[in-house]
Amino acid sequence: MRDNYLEEYYSFLRFPSVSTDAKFADKVRECAAWVSQKLEKIGLESKVVPTPGHPIVWARNKHRNGRPTVLIYGHYDVQPPDPLELWDSPPFEPVLKNGYVFARGATDNKGQIFSHILGLQETIEKNRDLPVNVDLVIEGEEEVGSQNLGKFLTDNRDALKCDVVLVSDTGMIARKTPTLSYGLRGVAALEVKVTGPKIDLHSGIFGGAVTNPATALARLLATLHDQNGHIAVPGFYDDVVPLQDWERESWRKLPIDPDSEMLEETGAPSLFGEAGFSTLERIWARPTAEINGMGSGYQGPGTKTVLPSHAMAKLTFRLVPNQNGDAIIDLVKKHFQKNMPTGVTLEMTSGHSGPWYLTDPHNKFGQAAQRALKKAFNKDAALIREGGSIPIVSDFRKILGVETLLIGLALQDCRAHSPNENFPLENLEAGIRMNQAVLEELAG
Ligand code: BES
Ligand code: MN
Repeated sequence: MRDNYLEEYYSFLRFPSVSTDAKFADKVRECAAWVSQKLEKIGLESKVVPTPGHPIVWARNKHRNGRPTVLIYGHYDVQPPDPLELWDSPPFEPVLKNGYVFARGATDNKGQIFSHILGLQETIEKNRDLPVNVDLVIEGEEEVGSQNLGKFLTDNRDALKCDVVLVSDTGMIARKTPTLSYGLRGVAALEVKVTGPKIDLHSGIFGGAVTNPATALARLLATLHDQNGHIAVPGFYDDVVPLQDWERESWRKLPIDPDSEMLEETGAPSLFGEAGFSTLERIWARPTAEINGMGSGYQGPGTKTVLPSHAMAKLTFRLVPNQNGDAIIDLVKKHFQKNMPTGVTLEMTSGHSGPWYLTDPHNKFGQAAQRALKKAFNKDAALIREGGSIPIVSDFRKILGVETLLIGLALQDCRAHSPNENFPLENLEAGIRMNQAVLEELAG
């Protein structure tokens, strides 16, 4: 790998392009400008398209008739680096240790999208052109639900007409093991707030005579699951399509040991999930209800004998085919209303949502991707679904009418969204080869 690749990658990583926090908005914009300039430097036409939120970078080569058009999608925004004290080195000052680059965004998604850019660069340098027509759409709002990208796709539907989309924002099942993901879970968010007394009260004077909102919320949240890890919201599973036999078979044969890897990576004392399903089935093919955060009452040092006035929790549900996010949120709201403890009021606000995605890894694009992965890694591709969500992928189908190839480069221990996020240079290099192989295979 060339020396200046690392320097450029570091420059990309130094932008704190945190999309969720308005105080970084300038940095997000500077990062977009940097990406766009890089794409111009390698010989593409590129522009930064403003949106009501963060801008979208849109670049392309000269399109020629008679060859396929490939849309490469990625994101330059990142998750917040917090909690900062858990990082071994500052999140926006990339460092290389034992072949791994540490920084927020090193994997998700800067490292992955940058390897595609370098792949394009090398091909253009070698052949003065790419083997296919290419559009790159690199957005700045993926980590906050891609609120403005759908409209961008609709507004530019004709200009973005393409044959297939390429996304490197998913995982590899193991080092040096190419992976084609053919499914993603969807996600739907709901915030609940339980309110009792009008102010925090003395728990000695009032405790026992009025409902404690923290207790009420705990009871309410506990109704989400039964003892076996099944979601207990009536109707929740009605639209769930069971896993196909070929998937269950082929997942069982994957060259990984999901349970022990998961134990090691998470540090949890044991695994737990919906009874009757394997770990991979639980994360790739079953829906979940998760509490992402909750708060109530006194959280400072020592004690405070208080009866809190309210309690809140942030929830998300991961969805699988054929569940509908709005319908699921409605079911949960009804369920909570029905199970409301007395003496408190309940407010529920639904948040962002994004659909699941499932495609056929054996169609002609999937086959091309599998050939390319084999070429780039010298190994057959593993075919998997993913537990994470990339909401815009279902819009590529709905708005542009095309399927998406998910050929990500993230490893289990890359720490995406966590402290000490990292990306092996080995994967940056593999990504460069993979980009070239995929475009060649898609060119036919
Ligand atoms: N790259 C991830 C999605 C992902 C993670 C795919 C793991 C496959 C495996 C993406 O950046 C992400 O984190 N998405 C969010 C979406 C949400 C904010 C709407 C997610 O999955 O939580
Ligand atoms: Mn991502």
